[in-house]
Amino acid sequence: MLQNRKLGRTNLSVSEIGLGCWPLGGLTTINGISITYGDLDEATASNIIKTALELGVNTFDTADSYSLGNSEKRLGKALKEHRADVHIFTKAAGVPSYNEPMPMGIDLSYHHLMAALDRSLKRLETSYVDLFQAHKAPQSEKDFLSLEKTFKEIKAEGKAFYCGVSIGLEYEKGIELIKRGMVDTIQLYFSLLDFRPVEKLLPLAKKNGVGIIIAEPLAQGFLTGKYKQGHSFSKTDIRSGYDTITLRTKIERSQHFQFLANESRTLNVAALAYVLNRDEVSTCIPGAKSVEQLRSNIGASEASLTNDELEKIAEIQQKWLQS
Ligand SMILES: NC(=O)c1ccc[n+]([C@@H]2O[C@H](COP(=O)([O-])OP(=O)(O)OC[C@H]3O[C@@H](n4cnc5c(N)ncnc54)[C@H](OP(=O)(O)O)[C@@H]3O)[C@@H](O)[C@H]2O)c1
Repeated sequence: MLQNRKLGRTNLSVSEIGLGCWPLGGLTTINGISITYGDLDEATASNIIKTALELGVNTFDTADSYSLGNSEKRLGKALKEHRADVHIFTKAAGVPSYNEPMPMGIDLSYHHLMAALDRSLKRLETSYVDLFQAHKAPQSEKDFLSLEKTFKEIKAEGKAFYCGVSIGLEYEKGIELIKRGMVDTIQLYFSLLDFRPVEKLLPLAKKNGVGIIIAEPLAQGFLTGKYKQGHSFSKTDIRSGYDTITLRTKIERSQHFQFLANESRTLNVAALAYVLNRDEVSTCIPGAKSVEQLRSNIGASEASLTNDELEKIAEIQQKWLQS
């Protein structure tokens, strides 16, 4: 059965496996560059969301930039009858940048975030989200101060109960946000491949009652073991943007963990169990493109790794740190 955990010092009880809703919006491109994992039709998205609910998932993470609002629209529609039973997390800061080589720019300003949240609420067909997250860590003192003001205003207006920041790999920024007491939650990358948060960030978050949400716990699908050397992603998939060396390294490193897969457990389940093994983590939010993927991921709530396996994992990771 899918277990719940407390989201830091908030009063939210979140399913330890939530649903990452990035893939659910369907194919979207900017300047011909895909910003999604390819296409996914509305019926499939709706089926994934409804099955997640049936299986005990109560935590759904989206963002205004996912398929340029379509992930939020589909999520809002599918959850409409269940609003009181679920926790909806969204994010803002990403803005399409049609004139630049990178498809997304960043705007963390007060006016942008306030207006973006209003648009998100409309798409989500709700008057509040449980958690609003800045989709990028602040980069300057001005950004930090402005974000603090934004969070206060959002909470005062009742548009979100809690506020946090999605920092990606910017772990030092996460530490600063926690030390400044600015956030209820931090969303970050942490997986068998991205393991640096275990040293400082996770223990500090726990000490300060900051909820931890893990994005990309399957490292964008590489930690399923299904991608082999030589694989090339379709142009409609954002992962086609990886350069050859990065792609080769992700596949090669993921294959080091094949020893965790056995008759009773697939690699994706072991990868999620690794993340959930840390008690600082409140929820991990793997994305899914089918009901089968979703079901398999949820099975990780009943899986665990042995001490021997954890030691072997640490040995592999230590070698990478030294290389
Ligand atoms: N900066 C941020 O704030 C940020 C960034 C990224 C993600 N996120 C959040 O974190 C969530 C999760 O990250 P993610 O979706 O990027 O990556 P992920 O959860 O690491 O991987 C998801 C992908 O892996 C594949 N997959 C998932 N379960 C599988 C299974 N059981 N068997 C085989 N393949 C499976 C699917 O793609 P394929 O089948 O095509 O391989 C799926 O789209 C996002 O949806 C989003 O909510 C936040």
